[in-house]
Amino acid sequence: MASKRIAPSVLAADFANLQRDVEMINNSEADWFHIDIMDGVFVPNISFGMPVLRDIVKHATKTIDVHLMIVDPDRYIKTFADLGSNILTVHYEACTHLHRTLQAIKANGMKAGVALNPHTNVTVLEDIINDIDLVCVMSVNPGFGGQSFIENTYKKVKQLREIITRNNAQTSIEIDGGVTNKNAKELIEAGADVLVAGSFVFKSENPTQTIKELKEIIKL
Ligand code: DX5
Ligand code: ZN
Repeated sequence: MASKRIAPSVLAADFANLQRDVEMINNSEADWFHIDIMDGVFVPNISFGMPVLRDIVKHATKTIDVHLMIVDPDRYIKTFADLGSNILTVHYEACTHLHRTLQAIKANGMKAGVALNPHTNVTVLEDIINDIDLVCVMSVNPGFGGQSFIENTYKKVKQLREIITRNNAQTSIEIDGGVTNKNAKELIEAGADVLVAGSFVFKSENPTQTIKELKEIIKL
């Protein structure tokens, strides 16, 4: 993927005004909808599930990027495909047979993503990088929005970019957690393609303007 993208995280939206917030993203310069699904087992929090995603998809006009923070994600691959997900990301730490899981995601017509917790070294993906459409590098511990960015992420992104280049892979790098106007440029310079932003967008006075500002910053 050549151009750099912003994916607002719907987790930080106002769920009592969800359609309003979905339309805001539709009408903004944002590229994707980032959707966080948490099961209260893989992460110590529960977000929202299928009925909410179904209603988001009804109104959304952009790519649906689903981030599964759940154990045993294989159980729900078809369900998320049927709901209209375009990208389905599973956690490396939640998959015993990652290769099989990625093939199943693609067989269901979606792009396949792998998310890495902050403690997981990017080198674990060396032998499977050519099968991955997107690596989501967690720059906070998954489970909650509004946490502060872990600085070690820059190093991970550079290492991952090297692995992608060395293997001649087409994989995109997404950064998730604590993204703001303070770290966006450095992340792109380190080799990131997609920046997820939750609180920074939705807690700002003018989310549409904040998205525009982020897009401006990441234009290289
Ligand atoms: C964290 C989620 C993130 C979260 C990002 O577990 O995966 O997508 O919504 O939120 P901010 O941008 O507030 O850190
Ligand atoms: Zn996420």
